[in-house]
Amino acid sequence: MIALGCDHGGYSLMQEVKNHLEQRGIVYKDFGCYSEEAVDYPVYAKKAAKAVADGECEQGILICGTGIGISIAANKVKGIRAALCHDCFSAAATKEHNNANMLAMGARVIGSGLALKIVDTFLDTPFSGEERHIRRIDMIEEEFQH
Ligand code: RB5
Repeated sequence: MIALGCDHGGYSLMQEVKNHLEQRGIVYKDFGCYSEEAVDYPVYAKKAAKAVADGECEQGILICGTGIGISIAANKVKGIRAALCHDCFSAAATKEHNNANMLAMGARVIGSGLALKIVDTFLDTPFSGEERHIRRIDMIEEEFQH
């Protein structure tokens, strides 16, 4: 299951992402927001990120105006590796190398056509599983404990 989180800046694009996931038969859980009324992106970043960190969802997709605020917030949740991607190369590489478990995008940065391609690339690319990448990911958890 895919955890979804957005703010008002990402709401419209998230509706397109939801339609796209439905067309692909991919199950999601929508943690809001649920309209274009102005909200605070950390609230929705935290809800979706906790669902991924707790194992309720395997991966997540986050959208705000830039993708920046919502990814910064999600990365505060232990175990979350949220990657801000506005191109397909980055979306594939962050799965292969970082085993990113959340994709963040900015709805004011890219159009929906590219965004849906990035979603597909992110969801369809597996982690390489290579030792050097596992070591580096483990270091993120070990070296940055607060
Ligand atoms: C909301 O206006 C905007 O600040 C937010 O969507 C996001 O871009 C923050 O990083």
